[in-house]
Amino acid sequence: MELKDWDRLFWKRNFIPWDFVPKPHNHLLRYDNEIGLKRNSRIFVPLCGMSGDMIWLANKGHEIVGIEYSEVAIRKFFNINKLEHQIYKTDLQVYKANNLNITIYQSNIFNVDEGILGKFDAIWDRAAFTSIPSQDRTR
Ligand SMILES: C[S@@+](CC[C@H](N)C(=O)[O-])C[C@H]1O[C@@H](n2cnc3c(N)ncnc32)[C@H](O)[C@@H]1O
Repeated sequence: MELKDWDRLFWKRNFIPWDFVPKPHNHLLRYDNEIGLKRNSRIFVPLCGMSGDMIWLANKGHEIVGIEYSEVAIRKFFNINKLEHQIYKTDLQVYKANNLNITIYQSNIFNVDEGILGKFDAIWDRAAFTSIPSQDRTR
């Protein structure tokens, strides 16, 4: 699947077949005590879509940095969750919530690196790696 197909097939049709529900993923709830995340961790959420997991993690005090290619998805995330936010432009378009520690970069994940995003304590991958075409997964 090509990158632009995510908008064409899913986001612009408001058809989200990967079972989005506006609450955290079962595994976050189930393994929360075992993951061992330190307080105020900086968490990377690749290919974040409009995942409610970001809200849950941010409400626990963590800093969330998402990457998502689709502007439609990012706008939906802030609208559905009624999150006031700022949009600013560096080399990329960046969306930052005013009252929760959530920042989403609109980008192809292959166009960002540590110099742009900084370092992380943890990565939350939910349907991210598997959304990358198999030939690109070693990049
Ligand atoms: C299956 S969805 C998963 C979304 C989210 N992680 C969740 O749990 O709901 C995959 C998302 O990755 C985005 N995406 C796909 N390839 C991407 C890439 N190379 N860079 C950034 N985002 C990408 C799509 O637009 C889509 O929102």
